[in-house]
Amino acid sequence: MSDDLQLVTLEEAARIVGKTPHNIRDYIQRKRIGKYDENGNLIARARNGELRVSLTELRIFLSLVEEGNEKHHWAGLHPELGFHGLPEYQRTKHVHRLHPYLGKFIPQLVEWFLTRYFKADDVILDPFMGSGTTLVQGNEMSMHTIGIDISPFNCLIARVKTAKYDVAKARAEILEVENRVARFSDYLTKSSRVNLSLFPEDRMEHLAQGLLDECNSEYLRTWFAPRALLEMLYYRRLIHHYQHQDLLKVVLSRAVRSSRLVPHYDLATPKTPLPVGQQYWCRKHNRFCVPIDNCITKIHAYSEDSARRIAEFDRLRSDKTVVVIQGDSRKVDLQSALAESPISDRRISGIFTSPPYVGQIDYHDQHIYAYELFGIPRQDEMEIGPKKRGKSKQAQQDYVQGISAVFRNCMPLLAPDAKVFVVANDRFGLYPEIAELSGLKIVEKFHRAVTKRTEQGDDPYQETIFMMTVKER
Ligand SMILES: C[S@@+](CC[C@H](N)C(=O)[O-])C[C@H]1O[C@@H](n2cnc3c(N)ncnc32)[C@H](O)[C@@H]1O
Repeated sequence: MSDDLQLVTLEEAARIVGKTPHNIRDYIQRKRIGKYDENGNLIARARNGELRVSLTELRIFLSLVEEGNEKHHWAGLHPELGFHGLPEYQRTKHVHRLHPYLGKFIPQLVEWFLTRYFKADDVILDPFMGSGTTLVQGNEMSMHTIGIDISPFNCLIARVKTAKYDVAKARAEILEVENRVARFSDYLTKSSRVNLSLFPEDRMEHLAQGLLDECNSEYLRTWFAPRALLEMLYYRRLIHHYQHQDLLKVVLSRAVRSSRLVPHYDLATPKTPLPVGQQYWCRKHNRFCVPIDNCITKIHAYSEDSARRIAEFDRLRSDKTVVVIQGDSRKVDLQSALAESPISDRRISGIFTSPPYVGQIDYHDQHIYAYELFGIPRQDEMEIGPKKRGKSKQAQQDYVQGISAVFRNCMPLLAPDAKVFVVANDRFGLYPEIAELSGLKIVEKFHRAVTKRTEQGDDPYQETIFMMTVKER
């Protein structure tokens, strides 16, 4: 750690960065940079001649001040784990942006730890897989990966991200469906009369009525404009004619999410649908916007983009095994789930995961439109720490029991020297007890600022990556 920190005396620091020692003292007093001893330990009080500051920490802090982002830096945060200045296109590279997901971590965080603590051909497990960030990143680094998630839709996203495709064929299918829905949309708006033979006028009403008859979801009827609803129902109907059905579902779901009657600033946590056609003041764009009345605009936006993203990942991916398991990580039978896979006889080298936080997010609810559209069965009741159960003492206790049950369930397949990394915003200080109940030992903690959120506003907060090892069995 001290190499990363680049420890220098206060006077040296001032000289190197072109400030006065008084400035540096001020940063320390405001807790923007830390007080260290010669060994790189954060200290409260320095003995004579002992005080050091970290040049790395100081430089990051000063560059954030320059960008007007001073609030994102505090003393003691790991200098490399803030990923300040990492452009958005890298945070959302290739398949990581195939579908929005509230609460995913950035691939560079996974990469940082996998690079340092694991090697090619290792087996990495994520028992709270979410949208599959660990699996994608691990695969890219030639590691075998296993992911478990309770939410069937999250498993669908993760399967689609990690699947091996005939890229040309997948692209052709995505674009063909896009084209067919575009022709249908033209017909609906009567703006173009091309290819009418596909939808003879007299059958059109029949087709539209048939689509509406297939839709028994009150949610879909409420949250979409009539034209958007017909377009998405038509896309849905086409899917089963194609080979890459899961991929098409993800393209459609992404388009549908952005086609709800929801203000642009509220896509992640919408409150009530907007009236069709009525302007609203948009906090995101700082102007009046009109709710979207169709789905084809977003289908156009995401079709080519999705095809490009899977092609990009295809060039980077390895042929290592990827296993996605839908189930409750507290009790899923991992051994049976892996029995048919090429890694059935392998021990798990490590875990890299970010469990839900207490009372923060309802993971099924955030994708309610997809559950309604595809009729996917929900498993909300088995989510650990959902928002709807709050953050009370009881909720925290249930959380401790739930998370530790997951690690205990994984334990039989863990290698004796396995390393377990848990990314958590542990504001209630629950992880020491969780580690104890899981048979794990916390050996190091890395603190990082979380600054680059696309969906959760700009408020910085901190999270800790707990590194744990297995207690002697
Ligand atoms: C913080 S998210 C993980 C996000 C992930 N790291 C990513 O980058 O997409 C936590 C996940 O835990 C899942 N989860 C909650 N309770 C679970 C349970 N009992 N078994 C398995 N997964 C569960 C949720 O569905 C959610 O997807």
